[in-house]
Amino acid sequence: MKNTPIIALDFATLEEVDQFLDLFNEPLFVKVGMELYLQNGPETINRIKERGHDIFLDLKLHDIPNTVEGALKGLGKLNIDLINVHAAGGKNMMAAGLEGLRETNPNAKLIAVTQLTSTTEQQMKDEQNIQSSINESVVHYAKMAHEAGLDGVVCSPLESNLIQEHIGETFLKVTPGIRLESDMTHDQQRVTTPEDAKKLGSTHIVVGRSITQHEDPVARYHEILQRWEG
Ligand code: C5P
Repeated sequence: MKNTPIIALDFATLEEVDQFLDLFNEPLFVKVGMELYLQNGPETINRIKERGHDIFLDLKLHDIPNTVEGALKGLGKLNIDLINVHAAGGKNMMAAGLEGLRETNPNAKLIAVTQLTSTTEQQMKDEQNIQSSINESVVHYAKMAHEAGLDGVVCSPLESNLIQEHIGETFLKVTPGIRLESDMTHDQQRVTTPEDAKKLGSTHIVVGRSITQHEDPVARYHEILQRWEG
């Protein structure tokens, strides 16, 4: 699995994906989320893989253990490199999901979403009724994911160093919420630049609108790649 910035292909159609990927002449690491996958299905994965790109299938599964196990067993048949569940589904759900995935796919990594990067500490307290700090909640979820045997978590770059302290360097910290100084934050709340994400211990960054909505996505991707690789 590469560790170049993961480009979030938040498009509705395969035509838009093709148009976007046609701009690039290099192997990429891309993220297929629910908008694209739920409207276009497994064909999405085949089309992107034929172009030679690595794929993070970001469906954030969250259901009872048996259902997540079955879903991941099925999704494991696709040629994916990275996939995820919500840690809030619990340790049993994560362990069952991993078992399902391993039945059909020995290599894909499984990670868990901790707190979404669009969630503020106040929202977490008011809406989820979790009365700790957001850092404590994220570390708690990351420890659960680690105990369940998962390969890492999705978190904000601002939490990567804490997770590194508690769990170690090799545990994946895949971090969306990446913005350059000139970007709008949109709906994201806990954001940093690519170089700060690196300094804070992120192992991978996910970048969507900062690249896909830029007038020159290839130039913007290379700027982010360079800042990420230092
Ligand atoms: O456009 P932007 O860079 O904000 O896109 C971030 C991407 O990462 C989106 O596809 C979003 O679904 C995803 N994501 C996130 N926060 C998480 C998990 C995934 O923003 N905790």
